[in-house]
Amino acid sequence: MISIKDLLNLFFQELNGIYPKKEIEAIFFRLIDYWYNINKIDLILHPNFTIDETKLLNALQRLKKNEPWQYIIGQTNFYGLQFGVNPFVLIPRPETEELVEWIIKDNKYKNQLEILDIGTGSGAIAVSLADNLRFATVSAIDFSENALKTAKINADKNKVSINFIKQDILEDFNCNKLFDIIVSNPPYVRNSEKKLMHKNVLDFEPSSALFVSDDDPLIFYDKIIDFYKQNTRTGGLLYLEINEFLKNDLEKLLFEKNIEKYQFRKDIFDKWRMLKIIKNDNGSILS
Ligand SMILES: C[S@@+](CC[C@H](N)C(=O)[O-])C[C@H]1O[C@@H](n2cnc3c(N)ncnc32)[C@H](O)[C@@H]1O
Repeated sequence: MISIKDLLNLFFQELNGIYPKKEIEAIFFRLIDYWYNINKIDLILHPNFTIDETKLLNALQRLKKNEPWQYIIGQTNFYGLQFGVNPFVLIPRPETEELVEWIIKDNKYKNQLEILDIGTGSGAIAVSLADNLRFATVSAIDFSENALKTAKINADKNKVSINFIKQDILEDFNCNKLFDIIVSNPPYVRNSEKKLMHKNVLDFEPSSALFVSDDDPLIFYDKIIDFYKQNTRTGGLLYLEINEFLKNDLEKLLFEKNIEKYQFRKDIFDKWRMLKIIKNDNGSILS
């Protein structure tokens, strides 16, 4: 048994140089909250309170190898909901919460919607939309069997019903359905950008969820926009998370595809991270 205060100091000492001090503290409290239901106030009030250190020492070793804490506890929070995560799925990011927020704000007063999430991973987008737009029917695609299993568990845990479909979206396919909203956070990080990324992403998160070749970085956007054109109703909306460095290339792609009615949006860090496309009355896409 060891006191919480000593354990925190050990975390600072051992993880120094791997994570900033503030992040070490945040991770430490996330872990002790999850395993022992102890929070920061408990530490202030009872600094000498002792706990069995086994789990935390094991976690410390894994953190030292850059494993994300979310995979260590197998959980994360997204849009106020709990999601199980594992190395088969990307850890959902705060910028994706902003995309979800945009969709909910735009569509919360409608009363019937068919939504499709392409590349669902943990199910973060599909589940949070189904939870917040209760009148919507939500489907979700991924080509990874293991991701779909994880997403199904997350849908059940959050008590929403989603129609999961195993499909490679780079292959031609037909859903035999018309959607009102399609959303996707597809792979969009160019291989050349790997050098800008942290080891905890590169070594642990699924590369098939993240990376695209530098020769064809918009491959998913190209396919998804074509699919959207064919499989949405009039007024159909397409929401996409985007690579901040590829906005100009995307604008070019939209021009080539005769898409005129669209809106890019920045995230809270002032980076271009979202795109919405709107389909007009006659099925074509005009401003
Ligand atoms: C960036 S992750 C997004 C995960 C989740 N939607 C989120 O926002 O956290 C991209 C997802 O697309 C899936 N994916 C990659 N290539 C695919 C393909 N060719 N067909 C279908 N899904 C694919 C990956 O398995 C991964 O789950």
